[in-house]
Amino acid sequence: MTIADIEAVQQTFVDAAVRADKAGFDVIELHGAHGYLLFEFLSPLSNQRTDQYGGSFENRIRFLVEIIRKVRQAWPQQKPLFVRISATDWVEGGWNLDDTVALAKIIYAEGVDLIDCSTGGNDPRQNIPAAPGFQVPFATAVKEQVPGIVTGAVGMITHASQVSDIIGEDKADVVFVARKFLRNPSFVLSTAHELGVYIKWPNQYERGQVKTKYSFF
Ligand SMILES: Cc1cc2nc3c(=O)[nH]c(=O)nc-3n(C[C@H](O)[C@H](O)[C@H](O)COP(=O)(O)O)c2cc1C
Repeated sequence: MTIADIEAVQQTFVDAAVRADKAGFDVIELHGAHGYLLFEFLSPLSNQRTDQYGGSFENRIRFLVEIIRKVRQAWPQQKPLFVRISATDWVEGGWNLDDTVALAKIIYAEGVDLIDCSTGGNDPRQNIPAAPGFQVPFATAVKEQVPGIVTGAVGMITHASQVSDIIGEDKADVVFVARKFLRNPSFVLSTAHELGVYIKWPNQYERGQVKTKYSFF
């Protein structure tokens, strides 16, 4: 990418943020993970540039930081801005947790509200120890080392007990769930039910909730 290409792509992020606001969205998340373009700049494994956008940590994060700066100006201050990151490449010599924490400090200062800690997806040599909640420690590390930032944990979080452990034990502030919703679209309702947390159910579903006036039926 030439510098003109970089500026053009950055402008498309700004344009998208403006469209998202006009369309009434409450939150946007910049995708800086999984080998998509922003992460390709971050990781020393994929970033082979020799100009001010490659080489040192400061240079590799420049593309993302500039986008955040521009998007934050275009996106209303009261609306949260999330960034998804791969907290590690899972490859020796690649992007790692220390880089993620250092980046999180910088982007928090730039007005990012939440860092969504995923991992991998950038290099075929990755060796991912996938297991329930395996990415949660990355969110915890960021939360502990970047006071004030809100962290999201994601990946193989499928049970109410896990959600309760992660949120209740302050391992992350938010839990993101994907595939479980494909299997159980009512996952939020069933999790709240299992944990005894009151949330507003759709009127038509209220009789599925305990302790409603119809619970004796
Ligand atoms: C159908 C499908 C599409 C997905 N698309 C994206 C995507 O566009 N961007 C992204 O960051 N993650 C995407 N993911 C990954 C999820 O956001 C999530 O990180 C991953 O599935 C791990 O969480 P889970 O174990 O709760 O599914 C997708 C997952 C699924 C199942």
